Amino acid sequence: MGKKVAPSILSADFARLGSEIQAVVDAGADWIHVDVMDGHFVPNITIGPPVVKSLRKITEVPLDVHLMIDHPEKYIKDFAQAGASNITIHVESTPSPAEVLKEIRKLSCRPGITLKPATPVAAILEFLPLVDLVLVMTVNPGFSGQEFMPAQAEKIREIRKQLDKIHSKALIEVDGGINAETAKLCLAADVFVAGNYIFKNNYAQAIKSLKELT
Ligand code: DX5
Ligand code: ZN
Repeated sequence: MGKKVAPSILSADFARLGSEIQAVVDAGADWIHVDVMDGHFVPNITIGPPVVKSLRKITEVPLDVHLMIDHPEKYIKDFAQAGASNITIHVESTPSPAEVLKEIRKLSCRPGITLKPATPVAAILEFLPLVDLVLVMTVNPGFSGQEFMPAQAEKIREIRKQLDKIHSKALIEVDGGINAETAKLCLAADVFVAGNYIFKNNYAQAIKSLKELT
């Protein structure tokens, strides 16, 4: 299977968000990655359910919602109703990740768990049977345009082994500082999230350069 590419709209021109989405979809994007930040879990504030709702109206591609917020349980219903396809939570963001992941599935979305660079794989193991997605962060969450942390790539292989062990078909996503070079260190991943690399370059060429990695 070829790699999927999920452009992160955090690097798009928010004044022209609709046409930016259309352009990356036309350029081959498989998913649209939506970074939700609350100024608490991470030191930055971005967007919420109304933007997801507007995006849902203009595109059919899966909306991959990455929640970097405290108390995700309070907001998952809003995101699901707004049209999120995947909802990924950080393991540290709630005292009961298992409950939240089950709730996301009940809301007919695909549940995902994510780990920050400082989070060991052991912290998410117990949740792997509940998820369709594992998101490995290769920068500290909060901002686009940061430098890729190569030491994190090893986690992808480790998670793949653990998923195989439980016969899980969950996809592994990698997020942070991804470009055609850094992605080569992450070939065990299924989905490449990229913000700056896509939106600061020729969209179609950048997306193609990631999709063709094997
Ligand atoms: C960081 C976000 C990433 C980020 C990716 O907190 O989760 O999705 O926007 O942007 P680049 O690819 O520029 O690192
Ligand atoms: Zn993200």
